[in-house]
Amino acid sequence: MTSRPVANGKLPLTELGEMTGRGDRIVMVTAYDHPSGRLADAAGIDLILVGDSAAMTVLGHSSTVPVTMEEMLMLTHAVTRAAERALVVADMPFGSFQVSDEDAVRNAIRFVKEAGADAVKLEGAGPSLSRVAALVGAGIPVMGHLGLTPQSATMLGGFRAQGKTAEKARRLVEDALALEDAGCFSLVLEAVPAPVAARISEQLSIPTIGIGSGPDCDGQVLVLHDLLGLYDGGSPRFAKRYAEIGAEIQSALERFAQEVRSGAFPEEEHTYDMPEAELSAFLSGSKAAPRSQP
Ligand code: KIV
Repeated sequence: MTSRPVANGKLPLTELGEMTGRGDRIVMVTAYDHPSGRLADAAGIDLILVGDSAAMTVLGHSSTVPVTMEEMLMLTHAVTRAAERALVVADMPFGSFQVSDEDAVRNAIRFVKEAGADAVKLEGAGPSLSRVAALVGAGIPVMGHLGLTPQSATMLGGFRAQGKTAEKARRLVEDALALEDAGCFSLVLEAVPAPVAARISEQLSIPTIGIGSGPDCDGQVLVLHDLLGLYDGGSPRFAKRYAEIGAEIQSALERFAQEVRSGAFPEEEHTYDMPEAELSAFLSGSKAAPRSQP
């Protein structure tokens, strides 16, 4: 069931908690441009994340680290121009919030003011806790992100599941509670064992959004390019494919190339005509007789 929008058409942020209370699951997907933002919105998706996964899915980097503030602002603005109902969450890229609370607030304000984001997301706990409090204090809604946090994948030993020992699982629960206390309105749990994600979801009063973290989170998110079969860099095993758009696009392009080369394209219906008199004047090099004015 999709939930109700407010007068300006946007889903109210407070509705997310109510959805969880009613047992309605929250749906989030990433998008990085206007057409995908429009399609996600039209499909009734609740939250659109302009993820820093854009570094890998659309910019061709091998990790999320290199994407810049300016790139993320441009992508976010393309999505917010398309989203009428869905709330748009901008992912704060690596380097935009690690240095200080002031830096984090300055950059988050840019997402809201210049790119029209409804909220921001940032990774981790520890130093991120005071960032979250500072952002919320500045009036910016913040989504947290724990478990596999790709910006620190090197420190975590690669793109792998987190919280697989009792001690690490307990630390995840503590971090999740601390992020809720700091003011997050929601929390992404990435690649966390399902029972640990279930325990966190039970203990928090804010909604959890899982990715590779089992069925007991309050919502689920997938990366658009994984879901559509558009990313050729290898998708994680938790990323279910709902379409093979990459193969469709390639086959359309191959047919286009073949028809151009064979002369089958363009046909008459793809071609503009001109008045006979203009054509013969053009071909004979003289000017056509002026048409009589109505
Ligand atoms: O950047 C991203 O796409 C994300 C999701 C995996 C949650 O952070």
